[in-house]
Amino acid sequence: MAEFQKPRGTRDFAPEEMARRRFVEANMRRTAELFGFGEVMTPTFESTELFVARSGEGIIDELYAFEDKGSRKISLRPELTASVMRFYVNEMQNLPKPVKIFYFGNCFRYERPQAGRYREFWQFGAELIGAPSIESDAEVIALALATLKNLGLKDVVVRIGHLSILNKFIRDLKISDNAEKEARRLIDKRNFEDLRSMLDGANANDEAIARLIELVSLDGDEAIRRAKEEAGNNEGFGYLANLLERLRAYGFDNCQLDFGVARGLDYYTGMVFEIDAPSLGAEKQVCGGGAYTLADLFGGQEVNSTGYAFGFDRIMLALEKSGVTVPSQNLSVYILPIGDEAKITAIQILSELRNAGISADMDLMGRNMSKAMKYANSIGVTKTILIGDNELAENSVTVRDMRSGVQEKYPISDILRAFFKNIP
Ligand code: HAM
Repeated sequence: MAEFQKPRGTRDFAPEEMARRRFVEANMRRTAELFGFGEVMTPTFESTELFVARSGEGIIDELYAFEDKGSRKISLRPELTASVMRFYVNEMQNLPKPVKIFYFGNCFRYERPQAGRYREFWQFGAELIGAPSIESDAEVIALALATLKNLGLKDVVVRIGHLSILNKFIRDLKISDNAEKEARRLIDKRNFEDLRSMLDGANANDEAIARLIELVSLDGDEAIRRAKEEAGNNEGFGYLANLLERLRAYGFDNCQLDFGVARGLDYYTGMVFEIDAPSLGAEKQVCGGGAYTLADLFGGQEVNSTGYAFGFDRIMLALEKSGVTVPSQNLSVYILPIGDEAKITAIQILSELRNAGISADMDLMGRNMSKAMKYANSIGVTKTILIGDNELAENSVTVRDMRSGVQEKYPISDILRAFFKNIP
């Protein structure tokens, strides 16, 4: 038995899986760039204080936190928003606004691993800093939705809420800070039964309990109607109605209002949103974000900021569940030389193809024809080139299209024509 195993909650990625991940990552990157966002990279570890500053010492339980050899308190990042805002305060405050940033990186959380929940996972996220809030919020949600659209992931539910609404209804309960925290947790889990009994136990006002549960249970058109009706009473409601109108102008009319979106992190201040892929079951949330303040906490000037992060690993799972094809390899051509003399010709053709930008490989295992065909099929190349004695005698090769099974002969000197039909 192998002596070493990977640490709990981590994964190894084989070449095929990496090809799929890189394909999806490149697609996401393209969309972010289309929206005018630029990529940043920040350290994998930060001072623990950066994460504790907003959330309190309690968060340390969820972190990979340690002391380095210089007795500095260090943590592997559990997410990138705090790092990006530290970077912004350190070096980007004087840039012309808005600052539009995206990132792709691994994150570490000391969680109980299960399907879709890992201790090392990847986030693809974006932050928009310094624009008026409704513009930022609309642009950021639109980027998230365009990213999913460009990936072909359709089966998603987008839920948008506003913390000023939820906070007002929670304050009306007149309960302790701890009970408020617990209420948020239960609302976040949509566990309204436990919420009701917890609030009863905390001696919350009966009428306020009923109002809260009615609010967070609203969905579909009902929620939108409520937002419009209440626009005059609570600015959060009016804000959300305006936001939906903007998202429709972006071409997205699939967003729902959900006044119960509470978010797990402590820095959100206004609009909050989540995207679920219902096919994933328990760990179905593929994206979370919202408007937040962190710059001032990190010693910078207060500035509007909105962002989100996709759980990249969950996006990969959701694409697979929805049957979206993601290429698992980039190899186009497999060359099979039969006999020693053919090997030299095979190497020459291999190099010519690679120089022309066509990914190609040749048999290194001495396979016979039938085994080679099986292998070529299994790795999914589109064409196989066969070079045997007959071909060599004619200075030609046989090119087989693996999908149609059609074989054609090409002169060796004109082999690229098999790939680029329009060569003059
Ligand atoms: P978050 O909701 O904590 O938000 O994480 C974002 C996404 O990361 C989640 O929706 C989920 O898909 C994925 N995720 C979280 N934990 C795990 C895990 N253990 N295994 C696999 N995937 C996971 C944030 O991190 C915020 N920084 C988002 C943000 C950016 N807000 C404003 N800007």
